[in-house]
Amino acid sequence: MNQVIDTLLAHRSIREYKDQPIEENVLQQILKAACNGSTMGGMQLFSIIVTKDKAMMEKMAPFHFNQPIATNAPVILTFCADFHRFDRYCECRGTATDAYHNLQAYQWAVTDALIAAQNACVAAESFGLGFCWLGTITYNVPQFIEALNLPEHVIPVACIPMGYPAHSDTPLTTKLPYETLVHEETYRTYSDEEINRAYAAMEAVPNNINMVKDNGFENLAQDYVLRRYKKEDNEYFSKVLRDCLDQQGF
Ligand SMILES: Cc1cc2nc3c(=O)[nH]c(=O)nc-3n(C[C@H](O)[C@H](O)[C@H](O)COP(=O)(O)O)c2cc1C
Repeated sequence: MNQVIDTLLAHRSIREYKDQPIEENVLQQILKAACNGSTMGGMQLFSIIVTKDKAMMEKMAPFHFNQPIATNAPVILTFCADFHRFDRYCECRGTATDAYHNLQAYQWAVTDALIAAQNACVAAESFGLGFCWLGTITYNVPQFIEALNLPEHVIPVACIPMGYPAHSDTPLTTKLPYETLVHEETYRTYSDEEINRAYAAMEAVPNNINMVKDNGFENLAQDYVLRRYKKEDNEYFSKVLRDCLDQQGF
């Protein structure tokens, strides 16, 4: 093993932070690492918005459904899929850019933004910082676009509060055995038996057992589908995103 692997295997989401700022030189190194990932055609189709102002965090908290991590971290990094800057470059060189106002270009920009986000996460953990992604950035997209003043061809795709962990004993999350996620040469579908084996550990986590019981469900799958990430919410926010992609010029 090496230090990078140790860091990656020790990953856990951190949702409570010390009241301690992130040193500026540490933050700069995290941002530099984020900006040095692989990128489609060398275009670097992402931007990172750094939020430190608590008033800004408070303003956006309702769009994150008031999750405590939306306001209790010293820094929040929002990663945006961004074709605006490359458009501006082409414009400055007298070159039309309507080639990029489509879903294909959006997918490139999302990929670039997520690579940058994960680079920032790995860099942050290498400094002993903790973080937790806020998936709610992909729900109320129009509200974040307005709050962050995002121009056309920019869409927020990842939002990551980070800071020094308040506790040192946050447990690792139970995950699927990695072999379940890896396929040799071609995809293999899963027998019922393999599914049972793969999900057994997750189903046995006391928190999951209690949640299933408290919500009157029969199993963890029901808790996911009928409560945590349910159809009507997903359909509603899919429409919001589709409209937003149109509005932002993708
Ligand atoms: C795209 C994405 C969105 C997430 N959104 C939230 C969130 O809104 N609130 C939260 O508490 N955790 C959120 N998480 C953290 C996950 O719950 C966490 O990564 C997962 O349970 C695995 O735990 P671990 O990160 O400790 O390994 C998100 C993670 C990802 C990758």
